[in-house]
Amino acid sequence: MPISKKNIFSDIKNIDKSIFVNEQVFYPEYLPTNIYSRDSEIKELSFSLKPLTNNKKAENFLVYGPPGTGKTLISNFVLKELSEYSMKVKPLYINCIQENTRHSILSTVSSFFGAILPRRGLAVDEIWQRIKELYSKSNFYTVLILDEIDKLNNTDASTLLYDLSRFSEKQKFFTLILITNNKEFIFNLDLRTQSSLALKSLEFKKYTSQDLKKILKERIEYGLIKDSISEDLIGYISGYAAVRGGDARIAIDLLYKSAKESDRKGNLKITKEILLSSSHLIDSIKINEKISSLSKEEFNFLYSLKNETSTTEIYSKSKIPERTIRRYLTKFEKLGFISLKTTGKGKGGSRVVIFNFNKELL
Ligand SMILES: Nc1ncnc2c1ncn2[C@@H]1O[C@H](COP(=O)(O)OP(=O)(O)OP(=O)(O)O)[C@@H](O)[C@H]1O
Ligand SMILES: [Mg+2]
Repeated sequence: MPISKKNIFSDIKNIDKSIFVNEQVFYPEYLPTNIYSRDSEIKELSFSLKPLTNNKKAENFLVYGPPGTGKTLISNFVLKELSEYSMKVKPLYINCIQENTRHSILSTVSSFFGAILPRRGLAVDEIWQRIKELYSKSNFYTVLILDEIDKLNNTDASTLLYDLSRFSEKQKFFTLILITNNKEFIFNLDLRTQSSLALKSLEFKKYTSQDLKKILKERIEYGLIKDSISEDLIGYISGYAAVRGGDARIAIDLLYKSAKESDRKGNLKITKEILLSSSHLIDSIKINEKISSLSKEEFNFLYSLKNETSTTEIYSKSKIPERTIRRYLTKFEKLGFISLKTTGKGKGGSRVVIFNFNKELL
């Protein structure tokens, strides 16, 4: 007699329902409908770029600030609006992690103007020649966004930026928007490049918990079904990201991970348990990324450290020279693994090591 067998899908909870209405709002390339907390930055950029619509030169910008503060989003947003407003302006976005040499950036610029480069490749001078010919014939001004500009080496960046800022051919020129986490990068460029660029700085500060809440609510409204997350838990996520650098990417990622996990479990609401386990996961991924930058000796030393031990005790008990230990501790502090709390008075006072993360994650 055939054994009646239950279909494996019949037990899956809410199989025909999903917590997501539109999962794409959580993807990195998603352009939000509303951009919160960046009015003054948007105004400053758009005001400075406006002369282009009257055939006049605009200032070059250095957009800088910590990760996840909207630098890439806002730069692209302003340029999209500008190019929709005026046919005279066309933006070209280049990420210097992907195009990380002067040659590859100029090749991308030449393709933007329609150049077809031979397969054998062209020397930089020949590429420049193509750009000059094609750009001078075009009927628009180009705004070049060079994101993650610090990923180029100093020589390439100095030469490239000097040439781009000096470009002048039949009244065509480049307007540059350079984006970086590390503003100091600019001071390592050639002095003549720095002066030729005449950069205007625009700082993006980290988001507050309130800012992050608004950003999250937008994604929730467009991405998830109604009542899928409580106000309390939204507060938890924004607080979590606020203390981790005021980074909107962390906030959105945590929300997305939690929604995804809820969906996998067939839940139509994000619970506190799911949220907490997702946040531990994010912490451990972040820590592992940083751990991989440590040498074996540094890792072993970090592993051997105990929470709330004084530096005096560490120096006296360890076989490693004090000078090396000091160097290690400074590095760990910079990476955010530990804090060093001063206890003793005056110079030479002892300090205590405080772990900023759960050591079990190591
Ligand atoms: N004001 C905002 N409103 C809505 N979404 C935002 C806002 N700011 C940032 N975001 C979102 O947060 C994420 C990170 O933003 P973005 O990539 O622009 O940061 P960034 O400053 O360029 O970071 P990084 O320095 O790491 O490149 C993106 O998904 C972006 O859409
Ligand atoms: Mg960016």
